[in-house]
Amino acid sequence: MEGVKDDRASRKRGMRVGQGEVLMSASGAMDIPTLDLEDVDGSPEARARAAEALRVGFGTYGLVYIRNHAVDRDAVAELYDHYERFCGRSDAEKAPLNRGDIWYQRGWTPPNTEQAVVAGGQPDFKECYFAAPEAVDPECAAEYPEIHADNVWPEDLPGFEARYLEVGRQLHRAGGTVLRACARALDLDEDVFTTAVKGGPHVFRLLRYLPLEAAQIEAGVVWGEEHTDFNLLTLLPGGQFRSPGGGPCERPDDDSGLYLRTRPSKDAPSGVKVRGRAPEGCIVAQVGQQLEVLTGGTFLATPHVITAPKTPGFSRMSAAHFVHLQSHERVFPLPAFRNEATVATYRPPVLAGNYSLKTLVDIGLAPKTAIEGLGYKQYGRLAAIRAAES
Ligand SMILES: [Fe+2]
Repeated sequence: MEGVKDDRASRKRGMRVGQGEVLMSASGAMDIPTLDLEDVDGSPEARARAAEALRVGFGTYGLVYIRNHAVDRDAVAELYDHYERFCGRSDAEKAPLNRGDIWYQRGWTPPNTEQAVVAGGQPDFKECYFAAPEAVDPECAAEYPEIHADNVWPEDLPGFEARYLEVGRQLHRAGGTVLRACARALDLDEDVFTTAVKGGPHVFRLLRYLPLEAAQIEAGVVWGEEHTDFNLLTLLPGGQFRSPGGGPCERPDDDSGLYLRTRPSKDAPSGVKVRGRAPEGCIVAQVGQQLEVLTGGTFLATPHVITAPKTPGFSRMSAAHFVHLQSHERVFPLPAFRNEATVATYRPPVLAGNYSLKTLVDIGLAPKTAIEGLGYKQYGRLAAIRAAES
């Protein structure tokens, strides 16, 4: 996400994005708060500021901007240059890193693979790379091998792995600070979330949104269909456009970007679509489904969509770090948020590892047969015993 642009005029008249969809605006649309990570362990006033930013940001928008995040923007830019070189390779060269066997949770995801649940069969226009910035938990790796797999790296791309891990770890550290601040903002034990994510299947993802042709733009094709992230917390360091000839460039027009949907209300039963464009130098943190469930809906998993520019031929480099609950944790409202309504909304409790498995099936990355792995798998033994009897 690039620098802030005050689009009050377009907010007033409403904005159009995608096919036939009017993006409303609302008073307060640009009031997404900024959390200063230096406030989190600061004076009582600073801590109160941090808590308020999260209560409003995560409670209303499901998103906050973050300053003083300690993520090296030059390293991010360098990582995008490496990734552009990788994406420029032939499919045959990239094929060994196409790991459908582990549900694409490491290595290269080819275009036209992943699709949002609401997309009606239309895959997102992107190719991705997945790697874990932290060592995987061996016990979880034995139980959920696909989401706790070892990293794989391209050959002959010096610097890619080092930059990838460096940026991924910086984002993960920032995420830990945000989670501590979340716990305080909700009057919970401050380690409740950071303890629950230790050893989780965290994954740092690079995305290249593909250049579109004029006809696709006319048809209202979006780069990433509307969805909510299924993990606990997502960190976005900001993307970068690439010109048709390659290399970084300015935003080709003002049509492309991240739009998020606010919490529905009586006045706006579909919520309000708001542009998420971080102030200069800030990164973004978004609430995922797991954090929504744990907080009984107090924090909102942000429905968001990535729109493409109206100018054909431009691509975009982007990155997202997904912080997950450890695979043995339960995805269910925490005791402080458990009541008749939240239990009815979020039941039954699900192990976080199983929650990932189910969602990866839903979005087309894991095969439907993965679901069968959740039940009893020894019925064949009884059948064999009965067969021996006759
Ligand atoms: Fe997302």
